[in-house]
Amino acid sequence: MTASGEKWTKTNWRSKPIKQAPEYPDEQALAAVERKLSTFPPLVFAGEVRQLKRELANVAAGKGFLLQGGDCAESFAEHNADNIRDFFRVFLQMAVVLTYAGGQPVVKLGRIAGQFAKPRSEPVEVRDGVTLPAYRGDIINDIAFTQEARTPDPHRMLQAYRQAAATLNLLRAFATGGFANLEHVHRWTLGFLKDSPATERYQEIADRISEALKFMRACGITSDTTPQLRTTSFYTSHEALLLPYEEALTRLDSTTGEWYATSGHFLWIGDRTRDVDGAHVEFMRGIRNPIGVKAGPSMTPDGLLRLIDALNPENEPGRLTVITRFGADKVASGLPPLIRAVQREGREVVWSCDPMHGNTIRSSAGYKTRPFERVLAEVRAFMQVHRAEGTHAGGIHIEMTGKDVTECTGGNTRVIREADLCDRYHTHCDPRLNAAQALELSFLVAEELRKSAAAREAAE
Ligand code: PEP
Ligand code: CO
Repeated sequence: MTASGEKWTKTNWRSKPIKQAPEYPDEQALAAVERKLSTFPPLVFAGEVRQLKRELANVAAGKGFLLQGGDCAESFAEHNADNIRDFFRVFLQMAVVLTYAGGQPVVKLGRIAGQFAKPRSEPVEVRDGVTLPAYRGDIINDIAFTQEARTPDPHRMLQAYRQAAATLNLLRAFATGGFANLEHVHRWTLGFLKDSPATERYQEIADRISEALKFMRACGITSDTTPQLRTTSFYTSHEALLLPYEEALTRLDSTTGEWYATSGHFLWIGDRTRDVDGAHVEFMRGIRNPIGVKAGPSMTPDGLLRLIDALNPENEPGRLTVITRFGADKVASGLPPLIRAVQREGREVVWSCDPMHGNTIRSSAGYKTRPFERVLAEVRAFMQVHRAEGTHAGGIHIEMTGKDVTECTGGNTRVIREADLCDRYHTHCDPRLNAAQALELSFLVAEELRKSAAAREAAE
């Protein structure tokens, strides 16, 4: 129900002001695609979604850490098994590093299998005097710079759905079919990182885990007897930007009578579409999935509390993750007022840090990039603020790939300079951490987690 007593339905968002919505030239074609999508099988099941919410409730209670990451924008062109496998390997490695350091479960949440729609700062793009609609992600239009390619085509939603289904299928197989078995902790290292310092540090942890597993095996605990060693839970997430797609995949769960978005386990609202009276908040408040909301420098403490009231009126732990993305230089001043307001009102949230979107700059040659040091600096400052406030730094949200791309400058393994950006700059949208940078980041977070654990112990 809303404040005015109006019942939520999955179509109510249509009567609210909406931002970032594509203009489809053929409304009938759009309606036909929506009808078709609404007959397709769900991609995820309500029981899994509730399990993720329980795991996030654990994080909100300070007893776990959320690792969320993947492409800025998945693309149709780069959809292949190698990319998914390499992403999954690095992701598992990061999770091992964080689990080992924090001594707490790590919730593994990919920005994958549905992360196709992009909000844009400008509705149009101008090149050499030609103005065309901006690229909005492969689920909406094509990145090629022609009028035809840039015209939104609803049929792309069907292709996105099928790609998400195929990606999810492989991820489920990796998570439960043996690939993620902890006894294979040494095998996840990527060939091109074999001799890097990050891999050396990773191998040390992997050696210690193998030792522990050997001891446990001697005690009769093996991956044959203990499924927790053999399999892992892995969940999917994306920004719920394209509401016709989300609505068509929102279904009533027959066991509880509740509505669930079934396009992914976790959906979030972007920094540009989080108006409390707007269409995106209206849609998201009615689905029962765990959800996120991005909070950039323009978020005020009151604005955040109003959003929390709308999105989590019952203060259910695990329901809401606040993903802050201030930029390295603003987090120390911007974050404490938000934390204090939430604490004062006794609201349960998971605090997660997106160190990517507040740290984007243009290189002199025009590439969008992110200096790795600034990414690290934002994470460090986020963790420090939470230690000072006595709250739990619950997670990170990053744009990353398992490939050896050159999109963010810096890093220790192979320093990427501005001049190197053109070598392997493959992203369809924002610059991602490459595999080495992602692994290095996990070591920094691990150090910070150790400091936080020590601070907690000292306070007890
Ligand atoms: C994103 O996560 O890719 C994104 C656009 O983020 P934000 O909404 O924080 O700008
Ligand atoms: Co992005």
